[in-house]
Amino acid sequence: MLTPVILAGGNGTRLWPLSRRDTPKQFLPLLERRSMLQATLARLDGLTTARPIVVCADAHRFLVAEQLRDSGVEADIVLEPEGRDTAPAIALAALCQQARETDDGADRGPLLVLPADHHIADVAAFREAVERALPATEQGAFATFGIVPRHPETGYGYLEVDDITAGLQPLRRFVEKPDATRAKAFLEAGRYLWNSGMFLMHGYRYLQALARLRPAMHDAVTAAWAARRTDLDFLRPDAATFAACERESVDYAVMEHVDDAVAVALDAGWSDVGSFQALWDIAEKDADGNVLRGDTLAEATRDTWVQSQSRLVATLGIEGLVVVETADSVLVADRRHAQDIKTLVARLDAQG
Ligand code: GDD
Ligand code: MG
Repeated sequence: MLTPVILAGGNGTRLWPLSRRDTPKQFLPLLERRSMLQATLARLDGLTTARPIVVCADAHRFLVAEQLRDSGVEADIVLEPEGRDTAPAIALAALCQQARETDDGADRGPLLVLPADHHIADVAAFREAVERALPATEQGAFATFGIVPRHPETGYGYLEVDDITAGLQPLRRFVEKPDATRAKAFLEAGRYLWNSGMFLMHGYRYLQALARLRPAMHDAVTAAWAARRTDLDFLRPDAATFAACERESVDYAVMEHVDDAVAVALDAGWSDVGSFQALWDIAEKDADGNVLRGDTLAEATRDTWVQSQSRLVATLGIEGLVVVETADSVLVADRRHAQDIKTLVARLDAQG
């Protein structure tokens, strides 16, 4: 039986000012009534799973607990005192699964690692892809889920395969976030898929790989877990020990180096909803090509995202912009610069 691991510790800065430090995008109802975290959990219906493990920031514990309760989901919630990116977060989840199980040969099924902030339109196709990956992981392999690329995105990882139309095949190479030149070459070569950021593998295999590839990280996380405290549904690894752990994503720390991985095709209307451009791509537009949300008045406005939360926002004679108003901030941006919003947020953070 697989154990879902939900990664909910990111900060979603490229969706500022909707996504904030207190409520990053995974906790927001960006595309539907429920939050992206709740949609991620709901996507598991129909798969046979053990109790999920949610790994998130200590600061968001009550938000997470409330959203889980609201969804009727019982989970273990592992709290990171400070995020150290996804490689340590997945290690915590693997240790949590191990601690749960008894030594009497109890089921140690694979971990299904899911980012809490992805949109998947075709849930049945998602579940089929997971089921297709399961037999491969039983023999110890790491499974990745690949999307046929649409543009030379530099914010994703790339999976090199023999045939981008095959359902399941060996993964030849994993390249995390190539620069623009390489991303373009990958797209043109026609042998690369985007890495969706979801993984299926056994926890013991992950920990073995981490011990070999990043021994200091493995030891720091193991020590932090061993010294954990339990409080209600919350599991708290030791803060000082965890803080000493290096910061690195699973993609760089592990996936670029494993040599027994497979890639499973995922054609399910996947989006990582990473930026306003990504939201734009999947949102429904009106006849003028606009997305209008909240109290808005758009005249001679085209291909623009206008969103208001606390007062009327009127636009006139503009094209290709993102205009987002919240109670305390207003963003006006060229949609082509959607990726650079994180630069703005970095400046805001620097100002304190
Ligand atoms: N618990 C925890 N702790 N979760 C984290 C942390 C952390 O320190 N950092 C990030 N996350 C969560 C995020 O909330 C998100 O759900 C997921 O882990 C992935 O992190 P991102 O920071 O969003 O990664 P990315 O988008 O740059 O890249 C990954 O996803 C791409 C697809 O969206 C990589 O796997 C790429 O290869 C992939 O293409
Ligand atoms: Mg992401």
